[in-house]
Amino acid sequence: MTWSASILTLFPEMFPGPLGASLAGKALKAGIWRCDTTDIRAHATDRHRTVDDTPFGGGAGMVIRPDVVDAAISAVIMPDDARPLIYLTPRGRLLDQSLVRNLAAGQGVVLLCGRYEGVDQRVIEAREMLEVSIGDYVLSGGEMAALVVLDACVRLLPGVMGAAESAVEESHSAGLLEYAQYTRPAEWQGRAVPQVLLSGHHAEVARWRRNQSEAVTRERRPDLWTRMQVAGGSAAA
Ligand code: 6GU
Repeated sequence: MTWSASILTLFPEMFPGPLGASLAGKALKAGIWRCDTTDIRAHATDRHRTVDDTPFGGGAGMVIRPDVVDAAISAVIMPDDARPLIYLTPRGRLLDQSLVRNLAAGQGVVLLCGRYEGVDQRVIEAREMLEVSIGDYVLSGGEMAALVVLDACVRLLPGVMGAAESAVEESHSAGLLEYAQYTRPAEWQGRAVPQVLLSGHHAEVARWRRNQSEAVTRERRPDLWTRMQVAGGSAAA
């Protein structure tokens, strides 16, 4: 039914954020997916609503307490909830299109967004969370990463994308980067569109685009290129 995202965060006002607009926003209003937030701070137990404390062993920053996170999770996850619980952290496994496809094919996701120096490791283990990173750089918290995960999943839900966007997904699934695109005018500031694209020869256009995809993948992403060769030219990571 409705693909359901539950987000645990110290900043619930960041959702749905940009996902309330454009393609994802339309799908949200249409009921194709839903999004609820839980303020982790609402599950603090002391008078000052404390969610974090200093790290054992010393060092900079603060760590989110396991008991507070656990209480927030209990409030969100129902006993028969089949959705994976994902903790967004730069220590996690890298998000890729195959994980996105798996998540989009399920009932939804529960996303835990960390802040400060992170979340106490014991609750991550006790709740068997999947730790996921969106790339090799550091964000100030998991919220922007959660928005990225959601955007990537929502566009794959049935009824969200038109035919044009579906074709792009298929192409990325083939393990190659996209070929370059051109539109009118046919000449702009002295730069001509590649002649073959104006020729009307569909087979030649397809061959040119395939060559483009391969060349740009070899040059920019030798890691993807190697993986595709290993998988026999039809890799979907
Ligand atoms: Cl998931 N969180 C944070 N804080 N930084 C990141 C990230 C996640 N993925 C890449 N950088």
